[in-house]
Amino acid sequence: MKKVNLGDMKNLPAVIAGCMRMASLDARKAADFVAKAVENGLNFFDHADIYGRGESEKTFAKACSDVGIKREDIVLQSKCGIVPHKMYDFSKEHILSSVDGILERLCTDYLDVLLLHRPDALMEPEEVGEAFEKLKSEGKVRYFGVSNMKPMQMELLRSGLKEDLVADQIQFSPAHAGVIRSGFEFNMDTDGAADRDGSVLEYCRLKGITPQAWSPFQKGFIKGTYIGDPDFCNLNAALRDVGSNYGISASAAVVAWICRHPAGIQTVAGTTNIDRLLEIKKGADVTISREEWYKIYTAAGNRLP
Ligand SMILES: NC(=O)c1ccc[n+]([C@@H]2O[C@H](COP(=O)([O-])OP(=O)(O)OC[C@H]3O[C@@H](n4cnc5c(N)ncnc54)[C@H](OP(=O)(O)O)[C@@H]3O)[C@@H](O)[C@H]2O)c1
Repeated sequence: MKKVNLGDMKNLPAVIAGCMRMASLDARKAADFVAKAVENGLNFFDHADIYGRGESEKTFAKACSDVGIKREDIVLQSKCGIVPHKMYDFSKEHILSSVDGILERLCTDYLDVLLLHRPDALMEPEEVGEAFEKLKSEGKVRYFGVSNMKPMQMELLRSGLKEDLVADQIQFSPAHAGVIRSGFEFNMDTDGAADRDGSVLEYCRLKGITPQAWSPFQKGFIKGTYIGDPDFCNLNAALRDVGSNYGISASAAVVAWICRHPAGIQTVAGTTNIDRLLEIKKGADVTISREEWYKIYTAAGNRLP
């Protein structure tokens, strides 16, 4: 499997097991999922305090304990900063209390990575910096990153931090490729030309920040998968075609497409089906050609001017 770096952490898997839906698994299935994932090198897990209202982290922790996973053998990432249906909160108090809750639910002393989940318009970079420093000095968090942030928001945040940001988790897939499209449709009078992300992939490459692609198989804003959806028949045909060149599934071809981008993007796959996850992972074992990458891009309805 392709490997990526995150700050000083080297050789991490290019596919992350996203745990947003983990609370839907019973204890036996959750234990099987975690054990087989780790056995197969998928030892990087993405959480958030809000997933299943905290139940996803608890289900995961029980699964790890049931199958005897050692803490040092896995990479744990979680997120805070969203107060559901109410507000975003980057206050020092909220960040610190959220991390304590996360550590308790995950039954661990430390997180490898903490991401701020969505930008808080009222954020004070120095206040976030104080929270990060305290978490770092107490050994509760090793590295810090963000999610759903534009470059200028990251620049503002970085102005108050001693630590570098290591990751920006954003929605990204062939079916959600605005971050690529706005670059191609440069200076054109087209919808695709709208710059909705501030050239975030280019910024991440320049700053050594690892992008992470969330909901890589979802259409729209988590409205169900486009894999096998007749509304995405061209994309599915291209994914099957490219996948068949390497003996992998259409879903795995999505991972191959994401991995082919030179920004060193990790795919955050959210399946709760371990067999599907292991199949998806095969996409990180192959390197598709430039032609194949563009074929998938255009088959998703993205244009080349
Ligand atoms: N930072 C953020 O704002 C943010 C937002 C959303 C998600 N996330 C992270 O990203 C992860 C992935 O998000 P997601 O779960 O929405 O995305 P996803 O991986 O694109 O979708 C997974 C869902 O699609 C279903 N699915 C059906 N057919 C599939 C196929 N052929 N291939 C793959 N999946 C198929 C899965 O069902 P089965 O379970 O039955 O396989 C599962 O319900 C989350 O777990 C979370 O860690 C982050």
